[in-house]
Amino acid sequence: MMTSAATTVVHARAPGKINVFLKVGAVMEDGYHDLATAYQAVSLFEEVRASAASDFSVEFSGSIDTSDLVTDGSNLAIKAAQALARKAGYRGGVHLEIEKNVPIAGGMGGGSADAAATLLACDALWGTNASKDELLAIAAQLGADVPFSFTGGTAIGTGRGDQLSPALAKGKFQWVLALADFGMSTPGVYQELDRHRDRHAQDIFPAQHQPSVDANVLQALRAGDPHMLADVLHNDLQAPALHLAPGLGKVLQLGEENGALAGILSGSGPTVAFLVADADSALELQVALSASRLRVVRVTGPVHGARLIHD
Ligand code: C5P
Repeated sequence: MMTSAATTVVHARAPGKINVFLKVGAVMEDGYHDLATAYQAVSLFEEVRASAASDFSVEFSGSIDTSDLVTDGSNLAIKAAQALARKAGYRGGVHLEIEKNVPIAGGMGGGSADAAATLLACDALWGTNASKDELLAIAAQLGADVPFSFTGGTAIGTGRGDQLSPALAKGKFQWVLALADFGMSTPGVYQELDRHRDRHAQDIFPAQHQPSVDANVLQALRAGDPHMLADVLHNDLQAPALHLAPGLGKVLQLGEENGALAGILSGSGPTVAFLVADADSALELQVALSASRLRVVRVTGPVHGARLIHD
């Protein structure tokens, strides 16, 4: 799409994610951990509207409190736009309006979704015509989860989490999310895992190189069976995150006492995702968790990745 008028606004949307399986392997030479994860994109979306400007700026609104977000060059959406401009040799800038619905620092890839939608919106706005592979390569430089928000659906991530291969998934899974009123630092949770592994080096197996996603996870996704998937949900970051934020243990317990098939920390947390059997159970669990003064959202997955929206 060629767009040049200053008033043109390009709208792109990208989803948040849940890691239904996350195994953290050894630390690699670049300081990142070797991962094996199964991503599922879920129906919480970031909405990015991009309009032509001479420099780079961003403003936020949305269903969550965005007042603490940085809007300078350290913001991932600005970095995404600048990276594409550099790559394409585009000399202008962009003004981004981002409507946020994915929790901030919640372990659901909200910042990554902002970046993925921004790449798509700027590509269309500036008429840079980058290929999908070029946009994915920029996405991978921006963060481990950005390529997945770009592609969406269900996928296996290895390496940093950015080397994706699609996974077959049937039907829709129903989730109830318990949102925390605080954020958690992803590097902080990984460091806590490393500290734990160092402390117990004598008693545990060394962290794996090239870990893989268990076959029964792939089977449960292929079958579209929430009971099967509930039995195999796994996240290596859950224990270190619970060590840093012990209150999350009570949230997990509350969900499992109120009809969830299973609960799991989303990514590095603190959002807790409960898998339920059907829409009725989702509603019942939402009522029970809300009664305990938790902020709760129901979502389904998988959903599509970043795409342009023609308003
Ligand atoms: O790539 P992203 O910026 O999302 O990663 C945030 C942090 O999480 C990294 O700086 C690193 O500390 C940690 N991380 C890691 N191994 C991964 C992914 C993330 O150690 N595979």
